[in-house]
Amino acid sequence: MLIAGNWKMFKTQAETRAFCAAFEPPDGVEVVICPPFTSLPPAVESGLTVFAQNVHWAEEGAYTGEVSVAMLQELGVAGSLVGHSERRQYFGETDESVARRVRAALEGGLDVIACVGETLEERERGQTELVLRLQTEAIRDAVGAPDQLVIAYEPVWAIGTGQTATPEIAQEAHAFIKSLIDAPVLYGGSVKPENAAELLGQSDVDGALVGGASLDPDSFAAICRAARAA
Ligand code: PGA
Repeated sequence: MLIAGNWKMFKTQAETRAFCAAFEPPDGVEVVICPPFTSLPPAVESGLTVFAQNVHWAEEGAYTGEVSVAMLQELGVAGSLVGHSERRQYFGETDESVARRVRAALEGGLDVIACVGETLEERERGQTELVLRLQTEAIRDAVGAPDQLVIAYEPVWAIGTGQTATPEIAQEAHAFIKSLIDAPVLYGGSVKPENAAELLGQSDVDGALVGGASLDPDSFAAICRAARAA
């Protein structure tokens, strides 16, 4: 079980130190936090496993606003999220740019959590499997399925909305993704201490990518305990 906390654009360095001082994860669960770039150093200093939220494919160059694999590794960062739906929706990330980022990160020695998921409109049109296939195959065709790669299934309609996928919907999507790529699949989208056990109890749910509920050390620790029990 892997439980990753995606902090998005939350927490300064001081807030990161306060979180790490208060956070008591249980043994027996792999825990990762993904702070914003500026808060990576204090997160690494805490001894927790730390991922970035994004990483660029080039070694260096004229890419304003981007960060390279080597820059992250110098800080002691172990991996990166790639292709989060907010990157796809608001920052023009495409299946192709996601694949390039995933490939460069893995080749450089970072672990990767690559995100896929359909929008509400796509689900209502009956295109869920089509979208998941296109997004997942773009990643698989670029890198195969190395051990350092984890997929996160995050239905866009469930992110930050409080509207969690039912365990059945999550299980069905996870099984479909696993028919395309041989990788662990995390569920993300309004995971909370109250619903974590049921979601994590599904046979093809290998962990969770947690947004809002990862910002509070107690609720994030409660989700990690649910994962240990699952
Ligand atoms: P949420 O976000 O848990 O706040 O819905 C999940 C994510 O975007 O990774």
